Amino acid sequence: MKRRHFLKNASLTGVGLAVGSAVTSCKENTPEKIVAVTNTTPETKAILPIVIATWNVPNATAKAAKVLQEGGHILDALEQGCMVEEADVKNQSVGKGGRPDRDGNVTLDACIMNKDGDCGAVVYMQNITHAISVARKVMEETPHVMLAGKGAEDYAVSTGMKRDNLLTEASKKEWQEWLKEAKYKPIINIENHDTIGMLAMDKNGDLSGACTTSGLAYKMGGRVGDSPIIGSGLFIDNEIGGCVATGMGEEVVKTVGSFLVVELMRQGKSPQEACKEAIMRIINKPNSNYKNFQVGYIAMNKKGETGSFSIHQWFSMTKFQDDKNENLQSGFVVKAQSN
Ligand code: GLY
Repeated sequence: MKRRHFLKNASLTGVGLAVGSAVTSCKENTPEKIVAVTNTTPETKAILPIVIATWNVPNATAKAAKVLQEGGHILDALEQGCMVEEADVKNQSVGKGGRPDRDGNVTLDACIMNKDGDCGAVVYMQNITHAISVARKVMEETPHVMLAGKGAEDYAVSTGMKRDNLLTEASKKEWQEWLKEAKYKPIINIENHDTIGMLAMDKNGDLSGACTTSGLAYKMGGRVGDSPIIGSGLFIDNEIGGCVATGMGEEVVKTVGSFLVVELMRQGKSPQEACKEAIMRIINKPNSNYKNFQVGYIAMNKKGETGSFSIHQWFSMTKFQDDKNENLQSGFVVKAQSN
């Protein structure tokens, strides 16, 4: 059934029920064409499922959307979507191939959060490619929320995951080059990736999210960023919406960024407005040196509306909806300088 047709049918039959509790399917009941119905206005109907992710990661969003379209569980969708980037050695900010810390160790942070507010995270974990899978297992199979370092690694191995050398030749070479000066200077990322954060809404209109990263390149040993910290790197409130962050984790942690965005949406702001206000909180801090680092947020509300905002130009969001995968530039404060 085409989207246009369904929307027409929906308005003819007068569907319009309570937020979060009512989902109506079209006749064929194909998951990808199911529409969340809200009690606000007809134009708030969203074609489900929706998957959004930080940066230009079409393979990851397509993978997650496929799982959902085939009737799979939203956590399988998010996990498998993030795994695409974790396994891609060309992506040097996530999983295998990630840039190491200043001592040459690749250390991973990840977290996942579901519609019920359950969450799991791993921090400072080495030698396991799929940090997101370990985070999910922490959530689902342990009494804990977060496992760190060797404990996280040993736990992953105990569940059957294999140890692997995450430092690829390419990342090792760049690190050895960096060692010549060993200057700690965060780079404003205008590449097409960094921390991968993903939010999804399934055919029932329920939200979940996931986040995975190798963190800041050449960080101090032991450093942990925002990405595994619920409320900073990721937050989901299934009544309101979800948010995930990328960029300089320290600044996200200081402002509890993702929780802030969700709370701003609770107050009535759109995802875009909420992301913008959270970015402005960072910029407006006394002595903020925001010109020297990047932070970006993406968010989705319960109506399936999405938005993104960053400090610097060229942060983008990949959005999969209605069989379309798009890369959308985010709103920003500081225009990139042209060379
Ligand atoms: N946002 C990733 C990090 O700061 O580690």
